[in-house]
Amino acid sequence: MAGSSAKRFYIKTMGCQMNVYDSEYVAQRLMALGWSPVSEPAEADLIILNTCTVRAKPEHKAATFIGKVSQLKKRRPELVLGVLGCLAQQEGAELLRKFPRVDFVAGPREIQGVINIVRKVRGGERGIVATSLERRPPRTQVFQGYFEGKVSAFITIMQGCDNFCSYCIVPYVRGREVSRPPHEILEETKILIAQGVKEITLLGQNVNSYTFEENGARWDFPDLLKRVSRLTGLKRLRFTTSHPKDLSPRLIQLFGEIDNLCPHIHLPFQAGSNKVLKKMNRKYTREQYIALTEQLRRIRPDIAITSDVMVGFPGETERDFRDTIELVRAIQFDGLFSFKYSDRKGTLATTFDGKVPEEEKARRLQLLQEIQKDITIKKNKALEGKIVEVLVEGESTRGGQQCGRTPTNKIVNFYSNINRVGQLVKVIIEEAFANSLRGTLIEINP
Ligand code: SAH
Ligand code: SF4
Ligand code: F3S
Repeated sequence: MAGSSAKRFYIKTMGCQMNVYDSEYVAQRLMALGWSPVSEPAEADLIILNTCTVRAKPEHKAATFIGKVSQLKKRRPELVLGVLGCLAQQEGAELLRKFPRVDFVAGPREIQGVINIVRKVRGGERGIVATSLERRPPRTQVFQGYFEGKVSAFITIMQGCDNFCSYCIVPYVRGREVSRPPHEILEETKILIAQGVKEITLLGQNVNSYTFEENGARWDFPDLLKRVSRLTGLKRLRFTTSHPKDLSPRLIQLFGEIDNLCPHIHLPFQAGSNKVLKKMNRKYTREQYIALTEQLRRIRPDIAITSDVMVGFPGETERDFRDTIELVRAIQFDGLFSFKYSDRKGTLATTFDGKVPEEEKARRLQLLQEIQKDITIKKNKALEGKIVEVLVEGESTRGGQQCGRTPTNKIVNFYSNINRVGQLVKVIIEEAFANSLRGTLIEINP
């Protein structure tokens, strides 16, 4: 295969939004060099998988995908295969031994070097392993026009994590916390707005611990949030993820002060039992967590609160689990992501006694998810008959409709004769489901 036909790429992204951001960066660098994206791995000359290793499940999903694309390469040896991200960081050269058809692996801090690595592989080099944890997060916007037609975009503002929750692999695979300079974040936001982006989500494993000294001034996360929110043309601003221990009164206050800051916070609590929280090294109690949600709701009564929780942490008794259920009932989250605890290589929790059997974890998970499902539906039903503001993002997966989200991050589907993508519209909610709302567009007469 020769010439331009040999420059088609396919990127598959697993894991969190920070991986999405990294994949977008690599895609843009490739496009700036004349590569074009394709929607099927079978059509590509370069296949990249951006991996996650936070639980066993994404790790298995990655292995399945690599196995599948290795088959493609068996038939087309010139195909280049690369594995990026957190699993690549964790496994390094081991991944090449397990999957000999993979040409290179690169960790999340090596994203900027991927283009160079691809060039080397196309020049005949094989088995490249890049897993330094020293480098800074990359800039995203390198290909003019990449975001055209997109309404919403992510910006990673800090990389890594210093918290070492006892169950978590992230500090090992993303390295120590490092924040990006404010001027760079502001400039990136402006470029995105100029391309039509209306909503920005600032990303970090722990955005509240953002800190940067520039020209003798120290910026913390509230400083940055305020400054970004003032950029002309930015309709909506969001951020994720917040760690409860670093959610300052000043940041909570901003939910009542910044007009375009969306009333939604993702605030993982992980467990409802103080004994378990301590063993997790989370550095807050259930009482402190509940108090935070109360303060948030006092400042911003309509705020949506979503969270992460895990069941079956080592030593979690039935009683501890009941504490989690009670907390979920007490707080009434708008949405909850719940997981079975999963042993991660090298983390402290793998050494803990009292591992909970798989069937028991499954039982607890199912029970918790049923309880939350009722709460989510009840919360969504409360919106029936109400008028909400929707930022329209595109075609709905439900035939013929358009879709967008409320400021509280709920998905709304509605019919419209004209394309409303990028507009803020008013919709009256007709019917609420567990994962979305259906409504009717309210035409504003000129
Ligand atoms: N930085 C975020 C979490 C990132 S990981 C925070 O501190 O909140 C996303 C979620 O995966 C976590 O909130 C946690 O609920 C879950 N998770 C992390 N490690 C896990 C493990 N070993 N087993 C099961 N779930 C885990
Ligand atoms: Fe993992 Fe805890 Fe860091 Fe979140 S704060 S990424 S759960 S170590
Ligand atoms: Fe997964 Fe890495 Fe994100 S482990 S959750 S992709 S930081």
